[in-house]
Amino acid sequence: MVNRRPLIAGNWKMNKTISEARDFAARFLENTADITGLDILICAPFTNLPVLKEELEESIVHIGAQNMHYETKGAYTGEISPLMLKELACTYVIIGHSERREYFKEDDEIIAKKVKAALENGITPILCVGENLSLREAGKAQDFVRGQVEKDLAGLTAAELSRIVVAYEPIWAIGTGKTASAQDAQQMCAAIRSTVADMAGSAAQEMRILYGGSAKSGNIAELMAQPDIDGGLIGGSSLDVQEFTQLIQNAR
Ligand code: 13P
Repeated sequence: MVNRRPLIAGNWKMNKTISEARDFAARFLENTADITGLDILICAPFTNLPVLKEELEESIVHIGAQNMHYETKGAYTGEISPLMLKELACTYVIIGHSERREYFKEDDEIIAKKVKAALENGITPILCVGENLSLREAGKAQDFVRGQVEKDLAGLTAAELSRIVVAYEPIWAIGTGKTASAQDAQQMCAAIRSTVADMAGSAAQEMRILYGGSAKSGNIAELMAQPDIDGGLIGGSSLDVQEFTQLIQNAR
């Protein structure tokens, strides 16, 4: 049985100015100094990355971005490249969050290119997948999510697949206060792992799978007790230092 290291990742989305990020980082450092046994990550807006690098680079807290372009440079106005992220000490990047799929029209083809580009540049991609409410109610959630995984990870080698992180985020649970039950979340995370096993065999056992969607200090332990859930991708509950620290304590 493979021992996967748990990961708690905050996704700040479009929140926190530079000064707010600096203040958070200073207080968070004090709270997390003696935490062991799991990886902690903050995925912040691009503008906060320099200050997080300054405050956190020497700590146990990893820094990540929420998006990037798949090319390393070029005429792509308004975009940020993997090389730029690397210089800011980013070791992770969220790819294909449902908010990017919905509001910025990112499709599976673009998302697959971004996953590949992250890996090629030594950044760990956190691929987000998840169904909306009508797919869930129609009983099509699992087929849909399996399809996303197949398309977004197509063409990767087993070694690459073992390094990625997949986050299962049911859209109906994001920011709504409605969490998937631990059993439903486990069922889908197991389906994701079996999809990757079909593509890459035992590499699927090494790949970490997170749950996201109204995860908080009060429900993280039950979610992470499930055999195929290796951590959480945390939105709202990662914005408050006390709550995020409590969530990490409970996740251990
Ligand atoms: P909430 O934790 O606010 O529901 O957001 C989840 C999410 O989208 C993390 O990427």
